[in-house]
Amino acid sequence: MNANLPAKSDVVIVGGGVIGLSIGWQLLRRGVEVTLIDKGEAGKAASWLAAGMLAPNAEVGFEEMDFLKFGEKSLALYPQFLDELRDDSGIDVPLDPCGTLMIALDRDDSEFLKRLHDFRKSLKLPSEWISGTKARDLEPMLSPKVVSGLWLPNDAQIDNRLLVAALRQAFVNKGGTLIEHCDAHSVDVSAHTLRTKHGAIQFSRLVLAMGCWSRRIDGIPDEHLPPVRPVKGQILTLQMSKDLALSKVIRSPRVYLAPKHDGRLVVGATSEERGFDESITAGGVMDLLQEGYEAVPAIYEMTLQEVRVGLRPASRDNEPILGQSPHTHVFYATGHYRHGILLTPVTAYEMTNCILDGVFSDEAKPFTASRFFYHEPFTP
Ligand code: GLY
Repeated sequence: MNANLPAKSDVVIVGGGVIGLSIGWQLLRRGVEVTLIDKGEAGKAASWLAAGMLAPNAEVGFEEMDFLKFGEKSLALYPQFLDELRDDSGIDVPLDPCGTLMIALDRDDSEFLKRLHDFRKSLKLPSEWISGTKARDLEPMLSPKVVSGLWLPNDAQIDNRLLVAALRQAFVNKGGTLIEHCDAHSVDVSAHTLRTKHGAIQFSRLVLAMGCWSRRIDGIPDEHLPPVRPVKGQILTLQMSKDLALSKVIRSPRVYLAPKHDGRLVVGATSEERGFDESITAGGVMDLLQEGYEAVPAIYEMTLQEVRVGLRPASRDNEPILGQSPHTHVFYATGHYRHGILLTPVTAYEMTNCILDGVFSDEAKPFTASRFFYHEPFTP
């Protein structure tokens, strides 16, 4: 969309991924005027390249209790969020409650999964330890080499590209102004002004939801910018056929395979600390195909549709950075790292409450931006 940049807007959001779009859309639902600026096409960076797994149970690491609660809250909010989204966009985005099947291909994997299982049981999370045979009963295309598995029935997934399309449509339908292909250059925090490639815009409140590019804006001192870096992920899309189709998200300790309702099979992802490098490497693709093949040999027959690179926005502690910056009218919503699609609903609702009412729920408090800025917020 190429609307002209307005001279002012109550809220200006920089960054049109699922996080920026959903915050903007929820603010519009509360009657606030919103302009969203994206440096490219909204939703076509990390949000587009995600696998769409909604898997707080599979993805919780040891000791990540705050993430677990926040992720579970977001997953529980998804049905309401998608109902509202259908009302405002006319697009139905199905939630696929397919569960996660974690698999072990050898003794090492099995011992690792056993530790994950024990940890989940200690938290009373639904987690079933199963044999290789039972794993193949659940997903017949699994390799005969699978020796054991962990069945996590509560995880789900979504088509993240459909989610992007619906959020974009809902944002526009609710009267949001979407300015694409427009770089935001700098902020003058005292003058409440954002300078962009297409001119300046005044705001009452500014939300920076720029993913891994969150530090690429002038006018805010370095020490007040969110500590976010890119973590590169190479990711493949294969095409399943009727005879060669998975029904569950499969994860080995080295790869995941997420089957989508339209026949795509997303195989991901590498995790590389290479700055803003977006090159596709033979090694990255080879590893994904090799590990995917070890788990599900039938991928050998599938068409390779797409190879892409996404840059995950990882914060210093790998957790999201939400809420007020050291400048009271500037807010951050970034650092969602591997969990942006999962955490979209909770981030949208929490940020809307924070911006309009100054409140965060107990589950969101561990992720406030203030943990990185060791002084009181000030009003310039
Ligand atoms: N959440 C999956 C990934 O970041 O690769």
